[in-house]
Amino acid sequence: MNLETQYLGLKLKHPLIVGASPLADDLDKVRQLEDSGAAAITMYSLFEEQITQNMLGSEAHIGAYENSFAEAASYFPEVNQLLERDVEAYLEQLQKVKSAVEVPVIASLNGTREGEWVSYASLMEQSGADALELNLYFLATDLEESASDLEDRCLRIVEAIRSQISIPLAVKLSPNFTALPHFANRLCAAKVDGLVLFNRFYQPDFDIEDLSVRPSLDLSFSNELRQRLRWLALLSDRVPCDLSVSGGVHTGLDAVKAVMAGADSVQMVSTLLINGPTRIADVLSEFGRWVTEHEYESVDQLRGCMNYNRCPDPEALERANYMRVLKSWRPKH
Ligand SMILES: Cc1cc2nc3c(=O)[nH]c(=O)nc-3n(C[C@H](O)[C@H](O)[C@H](O)COP(=O)(O)O)c2cc1C
Repeated sequence: MNLETQYLGLKLKHPLIVGASPLADDLDKVRQLEDSGAAAITMYSLFEEQITQNMLGSEAHIGAYENSFAEAASYFPEVNQLLERDVEAYLEQLQKVKSAVEVPVIASLNGTREGEWVSYASLMEQSGADALELNLYFLATDLEESASDLEDRCLRIVEAIRSQISIPLAVKLSPNFTALPHFANRLCAAKVDGLVLFNRFYQPDFDIEDLSVRPSLDLSFSNELRQRLRWLALLSDRVPCDLSVSGGVHTGLDAVKAVMAGADSVQMVSTLLINGPTRIADVLSEFGRWVTEHEYESVDQLRGCMNYNRCPDPEALERANYMRVLKSWRPKH
């Protein structure tokens, strides 16, 4: 069956793509991912902090980023090691990945402050990226910055990057925006081509013996998909851009749900880290089998059939569901 689709203007064989992760760090894995059917590959991120350090050549400067960086750091326990890595290495790896595979390669830039680092977006384009994913990964910790100030700052970063590149631009968002649909709409007005729902926040733990904060990185489970399904469904057909899901897709049936909610592409990381790159072939075959058996004619027909505008019970996506779910709880014994 033909599962062809489009994401960020890129033609994909099907919606299943590899999300930003260290998988793109190893060319053998990258080739295995393509051989196993990945329709596109997202590079791990180049962080604002790496670029800034590279530009200033100063360790001291990192102090200014302490708060935002502690969170960004939780992606990678060996942060110092990463910081020492030359930014050029990222661009070289991007070129190598690009030459190793035929599927589209999406570069990833990760930052939250306005600054010169955004100019690296154009170097990514020059290094062959087919599209760019901007990860706005941050915690709102500033007592002085309101939600709308914060959105304005994100918008200025997006506009600065948009003006640097002509390749498609996606923005990877956190689920914590106060008025997500409104902000999503503003991003679309700033010529963002796609939104990636969502960033996964890694929650640090406390070591109560030596009073330290321990970074912890737990991989996801399928139940994390539900939060994404709701927001995909609420945004699909309502904002004029593509939607991609990231977080909790482990099986072909998870992918079916995400597309039904409105995803144009379906990103996977945890299941590929747990089961290896060939896992994508199993997920793809389960996805394709389900679509065929249920007599959908195309991915276009499946996409959004459960979104807010089209699902039989849209209220179930909203507040009404909250009350119903709470009232329906019964003790097991
Ligand atoms: C080890 C690891 C490294 C990651 N690195 C990045 C990264 O560099 N940039 C980024 O935007 N997301 C990164 N992520 C987040 C993933 O792209 C993805 O959003 C998250 O894992 C949720 O998807 P999943 O449930 O399929 O794992 C990373 C995740 C893991 C587990």
